[in-house]
Formats: sequence, structure tokens, C-alpha cells
Amino acid sequence: MEISIREWDRKDLFKIQSKWLDYCRTAARSDMRLKPDFESAMAEWLMVRFRQSSSIGYVAEILDAFAGFIIGRINDWESVPPVIERRRIGIIDAVYVTEQFRRQGIGAQLIHRAIQRMEQANVVAVETIYEAWNDASAATWHRAGFAPWMVHAYRMLE
Ligand SMILES: CC(C)(COP(=O)(O)OP(=O)(O)OC[C@H]1O[C@@H](n2cnc3c(N)ncnc32)[C@H](O)[C@@H]1OP(=O)(O)O)[C@@H](O)C(=O)NCCC(=O)NCCS
Repeated sequence: MEISIREWDRKDLFKIQSKWLDYCRTAARSDMRLKPDFESAMAEWLMVRFRQSSSIGYVAEILDAFAGFIIGRINDWESVPPVIERRRIGIIDAVYVTEQFRRQGIGAQLIHRAIQRMEQANVVAVETIYEAWNDASAATWHRAGFAPWMVHAYRMLE
């Protein structure tokens, strides 16, 4: 099966939005509820990101059908508090593969392509976040060479 990966286009934003929101619905905790205007908020946010020169985005297609996407950014990062020297890092905000096309290496290819682009921009490290208990995410990032560093922990109070 021929997988092609290309840079994102403005026309891809609606599809990305709908897939990303599907994912948000499954990943949100019980204390997190979508805002009433979540669709327009997402559309505006994606458009801003699409226009920023620091953003990167790729879309995977199989026989012209949308199969997945990856979105990230490259930035000179300042620590909080500002005690660590500024450094250029890449952040991958989201990678998503349409369910019917999973386990065929598309996620790995999208990640590889994004990292290649970040290497060209001289980033020193690439970071991402994923759900700790999602086996597919954990395996995908582990296979791509990523390891957990700081753990984002929580405790529900209700
Ligand atoms: C995570 C996700 C992007 C993986 O996409 P994918 O195209 O199925 O992944 P790949 O086929 O490239 O697999 C990459 C590696 O992870 C492993 N892997 C992927 N899914 C797995 C699963 N469900 N269970 C175990 N291992 C898995 C594969 O074995 C593969 O390693 P290998 O081929 O060297 O053995 C996809 O499951 C997805 O879109 N999930 C919903 C969104 C999400 O959770 N995104 C991550 C956080 S933003």
C-alpha cells in the first residue's frame, strides 16, 4: 500500500480538526469538558498555528485518502523560572492515524518526517506528550526513540 506524506495545506485543517477533536473526546479526563464553542475555538487556533512560520504539519495519504497527520513547532525555549540557557527544541503536539490505517507504520513515518524537518532547523531535542496508559501511544513514541522524562501526575479531588 502506497503511503505518501506531504506538508499540510489549508484545505487539510477541517479534517485535522475533526480527527483531533475525536481524539480529545477520548483523552479528556472526567474533570475536563469541551467548551460549548469548542469547534470554532479549535478552527481559529488551528488557523493561527497554520500561519505561524514556527509550525510544522504533515499529512499522510493512502491512494489520496486522508490517513493521518502530525503537528508540531520549533521554538527557542526559555525555562520557567528563567535559569536554563535558551535552546532550540522541537515540540510535537499531536500525531494521529485514522483507525483503519493503524499498525502499518504511518505514525512512525509521520514522526520520522517531522524529526527530519526539526533536525534541519538545528533543534537540540524533540519533546511530546502522550497519555501514560495508552499502549499504542507509548509503544509508538518508545519505538521512535522517545523516553519519559518529567511525569505529569494528577489526583482527582471529587
Ligand atoms: C499512536 C498512533 C498515532 C500510532 O499510529 P500507527 O500508524 O498505528 O503506528 P505505527 O504503525 O507506525 O507503529 C509504530 C510502533 O508502535 C507500535 N504500536 C503501534 N500501535 C500499537 C499498539 N496498539 N499496541 C502495541 N504496539 C503498537 C508498533 O508495533 C510500531 O513498532 P514496530 O512496527 O517497530 O513494531 C495511533 O494509534 C493513533 O492515532 N492513536 C490515537 C491518537 C494518539 O493517541 N496519538 C498520540 C498522542 S498525541
